Amino acid sequence: MGVRHFLTLTDLTRDELRALLVRATELKRLQARREIHEPLKNRVLGMIFEKSSTRTRVSFETAMTQFGGHAIFLSPRDSQLGRGEPIEDTARVLSRMVDCVMIRTYEHEKAERFAAYSQVPVINALTDRFHPCQLLADLQTYFEHRGDIAGRAVAWLGDGNNMCHSYLHAALQFGFELRVACPEGFDPDPAVLAAAGERARVLRDPLEAAAGADLVVTDVWASMGQEEEHLARARAFEPYRVTPQVMARARDDALFMHCLPAHRGEEVDAEVIDGPQSVVWDEAENRLHSQKALLEFLLCAP
Ligand code: CP
Ligand code: NVA
Repeated sequence: MGVRHFLTLTDLTRDELRALLVRATELKRLQARREIHEPLKNRVLGMIFEKSSTRTRVSFETAMTQFGGHAIFLSPRDSQLGRGEPIEDTARVLSRMVDCVMIRTYEHEKAERFAAYSQVPVINALTDRFHPCQLLADLQTYFEHRGDIAGRAVAWLGDGNNMCHSYLHAALQFGFELRVACPEGFDPDPAVLAAAGERARVLRDPLEAAAGADLVVTDVWASMGQEEEHLARARAFEPYRVTPQVMARARDDALFMHCLPAHRGEEVDAEVIDGPQSVVWDEAENRLHSQKALLEFLLCAP
């Protein structure tokens, strides 16, 4: 097989994804014991960020340092990408120097074009359409707290956005039921929804979506690049806030997740995100461990 990329959760097989999550938890234990594990000594990750980031940048950079390698942060402000150098040229040049590239950008198609011209693995670190790295962390977190997610019910409340699309892929790959509750006009992309088949459906009633759910998930109402729509979106999404009432409809042992950054009082009430069912800090930490497993898979697999 040629070079492997990770642009969506469907780039890995179901078995590969499950093995990766097991490895992520092993790597987390190794790190907790401060054991040195340097499978990427002298290897370099190029990180292209055309959007802001806290968790993604720090987790990838820390991962490379702990693995004995190095990460280079590149933004359009201080690279030639911001001055119009074509993505295809950037891909050809960078991939002759570094061992792996991580890209956070707007159009998903741009990440695909980068991958098409890259000699080394390319990781999607968020596009307008998908955020697969976050799903690795979310799933690792679910497995660690509750075991296998297959057959469970997940309620997604809010926007049919990049995170929602990656949840749709996850429902297919991991075999859980996904109920997407969103206002009309903010549905997930019909093609991504259709690909999830019987695993997913769109509802208008957030309480119906949450009924008996094992996991309740939400995300910001205005994603990066949609800042000007913030007010209109806040009005449309108001009924979709994750409140204590929503959580009361879910199972007693239901978990709450949010990829962060969060806006308390908008998409989620403080009582929920700061409450006992919330696992958002484990979820954020697992970005590090699951991405270490991903880097090891892409760069060290025989
Ligand atoms: N969840 C997530 O991707 O966070 P950042 O935008 O801070 O990287
Ligand atoms: N949907 C959000 C996720 C942020 C991690 C965005 O794209 O801004």
